Amino acid sequence: MVEFVNVTKRWGSFTAVDGVSLHVNAGEFLTLLGPSGCGKTTLLRMLSGFEKPTSGRVLLDGKDVTDAPPYEREVNQVFQSYALFPHLTVRENIEFGLKMKKVGRDEMRQRVDEAVRMVALAEYQRRRPSQLSGGQRQRVALARAIVNRPKVLLLDEPLSALDASLRQNMQIELKRLQAKLGITFVFVTHDQEEALTMSDRIAVINRGKVEQIDTVQEIYHKPKTNFVATFIGKANVIHGTVIPGGDDTTLRVNIEPGLDLGVCRDGPFGDKARIAVRPEKINLTKHRPAGENAFEVTVLEELFRGAIDELLIRTAGGLELTVLVANEGQMEEAVHRGDRVWCQIHPQDAVLIAD
Ligand SMILES: Nc1ncnc2c1ncn2[C@@H]1O[C@H](COP(=O)(O)OP(=O)(O)OP(=O)(O)O)[C@@H](O)[C@H]1O
Ligand SMILES: [Mg+2]
Repeated sequence: MVEFVNVTKRWGSFTAVDGVSLHVNAGEFLTLLGPSGCGKTTLLRMLSGFEKPTSGRVLLDGKDVTDAPPYEREVNQVFQSYALFPHLTVRENIEFGLKMKKVGRDEMRQRVDEAVRMVALAEYQRRRPSQLSGGQRQRVALARAIVNRPKVLLLDEPLSALDASLRQNMQIELKRLQAKLGITFVFVTHDQEEALTMSDRIAVINRGKVEQIDTVQEIYHKPKTNFVATFIGKANVIHGTVIPGGDDTTLRVNIEPGLDLGVCRDGPFGDKARIAVRPEKINLTKHRPAGENAFEVTVLEELFRGAIDELLIRTAGGLELTVLVANEGQMEEAVHRGDRVWCQIHPQDAVLIAD
């Protein structure tokens, strides 16, 4: 449905988008995720036609639209700044696109009602934008785009002004509506949790480049770079030297004197290796466990986080790792500050990443 082919955007000598190639399937929910200034909005604007690439092509539904003006593209964009009509009421703002398209009265009423319900603004339909809060305006902008049922909907941080609980509700509603209407979503956020909850796939953007584009599971469990591993969720990043003794599936890496780890071979490495391990993938036990990759550690810190405990542990050589353990109230196996315990990392959970 959407394709970027080697798209670059420069302003003077500054490169905002740097050789991006990616595609979005029909009906897919793709999220562009990355820190402020990485080029997310610029990518969306090149898709909606408000910005032209310096080089590269943009395709929509198989058609090259690189040089087409916005109104010739079957996309709708929800802007980071809501861009509502100030002189129209909430309902009129939402109706606007349907009136332009000459949608019949009954269908219009039904579609507007549905959109208003989705964004929970039924009570505010007669107000003007100036009489709304920031979060309410954002919801009007969202309803106004959805009601048009475009082939592709571009959403630039559409939930950023909402409080946590409304935001979570809207995430669920939006995802449900997207599935129901089969609209292709290109969604922008810098909130990694939101991206994981809502997306089919995530494109992680850093300094104008795609670092990784994959399903949410792959992005989380198999990050390919240091940036992806540390930007999405928490990760322990461990450095080591590759040593002989591996096999087809595992690579042996020396971490410190007396500590070698077998790690999943599926990833980049040279003489040195860089390994990412999610904190919840580190197992702690009081007694020496069976199997490989087990070593003794000391518990330095213990933080209560409700459903989980966060522990900081240290190896004999001084390597510090963060561990998350489910707080199941099993007093007998509970681990506390100062304890000497055994730590085990399954080779599958030790992922080789690029610098
Ligand atoms: N018209 C412009 N002229 C010059 N530089 C620009 C222009 N528009 C954007 N930029 C720069 O391009 C880079 C990418 O901007 P963009 O708005 O795409 O970032 P973003 O990822 O959407 O960030 P945020 O999360 O803060 O919205 C930024 O460094 C920005 O300053
Ligand atoms: Mg932006």
